[in-house]
Amino acid sequence: MARRRVAGYLAAGAVGALAGGGLGAAVASSTVVPAQAAGPALSDVGTRTIPFNGPHQAGIADPARPQAHGWLAAFDLAERADRAALVALLRGWTAAAEALTAGRPVGAGDDPVVAGVGPSALTITLGFGGSLFGRAGVPITARPAGLAPLPAFGAEQLDPARSDGDLGLIVAGDDPIVVAHASRVLTRLAIGTARLRWQMSGFNAARGTSADAATTRNLMGQLDGTNNPRPVDPDFAARVFVPDDDPASWLRGGSYVVVRRIRMLLDAWDQLNPHAQELVIGRRRDTGAPLTGGDERAAADFGARTPSGALVIPESAHMRLAAPAFNRGAAMLRRGFSYVDGSESGLLFVAWQADPRHGFVPVQQRLVGADALGSFIRHETSALFAAPRGVDPGHYLGQLLMEG
Ligand code: HEM
Repeated sequence: MARRRVAGYLAAGAVGALAGGGLGAAVASSTVVPAQAAGPALSDVGTRTIPFNGPHQAGIADPARPQAHGWLAAFDLAERADRAALVALLRGWTAAAEALTAGRPVGAGDDPVVAGVGPSALTITLGFGGSLFGRAGVPITARPAGLAPLPAFGAEQLDPARSDGDLGLIVAGDDPIVVAHASRVLTRLAIGTARLRWQMSGFNAARGTSADAATTRNLMGQLDGTNNPRPVDPDFAARVFVPDDDPASWLRGGSYVVVRRIRMLLDAWDQLNPHAQELVIGRRRDTGAPLTGGDERAAADFGARTPSGALVIPESAHMRLAAPAFNRGAAMLRRGFSYVDGSESGLLFVAWQADPRHGFVPVQQRLVGADALGSFIRHETSALFAAPRGVDPGHYLGQLLMEG
């Protein structure tokens, strides 16, 4: 209620200011008006809610377009953390996520950082790393086969301090302060039980700058995400979610996520002329269409040749080497964030899949050494988490793992 009144005051302020009444007059008014009552001057960016509860965790397939801001983090359990402490943390994180994603304060003591801003399509997605198993009452036997450490791939320069972790969180939303606040609340709840191992922040185009259905661009300028599995595809669930007959029963309906900080070597990339850049991917820079023609969604003709006999989409093109058709159907749902960190920039690669052994692993093995894009990127960190299924109200994330 208190939060709602603050929201009302802020909205009243906006109305007053727009009407020429000034902020002072508006604040003096006790009228509680709904947020966004100012009409066309405001957007729905703040009010959009992505439901937290459901069979799958939010943030995997919902919202369809990745939010504008993301915070990726991993935590390690404290030495002394026991089963009760871990359960309390999972309960605390779940309750906080339920509240924050609905735009509610986390208990009476929550700070007013996001008062009046709205949930802004906030999602909070939790995963378990392989190192969690065998500790704090989590049976080693419950570790799913898909959580086996990723193999070493060639040409990567991974920083162990910013890789892996017992617990992984992805917090995403369309407003930066909403994401920062949620990240702080979750970190605060972990004090005494788990410590932050690494954290990274990234971004996508702001909501409202293009249609929700439009593919976002990465910092190389490419439309990135075009050929992702889509919820309307008949095999979407099979590609993204752990099946109902998986031996790790607690993970059924969940998903695996690979997180990689991939630096873009933009100085080298910018040396390429536009067409050379297109040949690296196999798609046009402007429309994202395959080089064999059509629009962004057109199917690529991988056999097409130029009059001189060269493949139109080269052997080394990223889209050819990564496509399910050339990887025995291996597919993943990529929904990453761009990052700029001092003079470095790149992609916080986030890929969801039903099983990394039939998703990220074979595709990355195929890309290494063959992908033309490889000369312009560097994998710098890596993590793999198993994200449990979503929960109904009254349950907590990971409950099936902790309680069987
Ligand atoms: C900074 C690094 C990367 C950049 C800039 C990049 C960029 C792109 C672009 C522009 C496309 C074409 C549009 C699309 O379908 O999304 C694409 C497709 C794809 N990428 Fe990447 N990518 C990167 C890393 C990776 C990695 C590490 C993997 C997995 C191991 C991967 C897997 C895929 C897949 C599966 C496709 C779709 C291929 C298809 O079905 O047509 N990418 N990527």
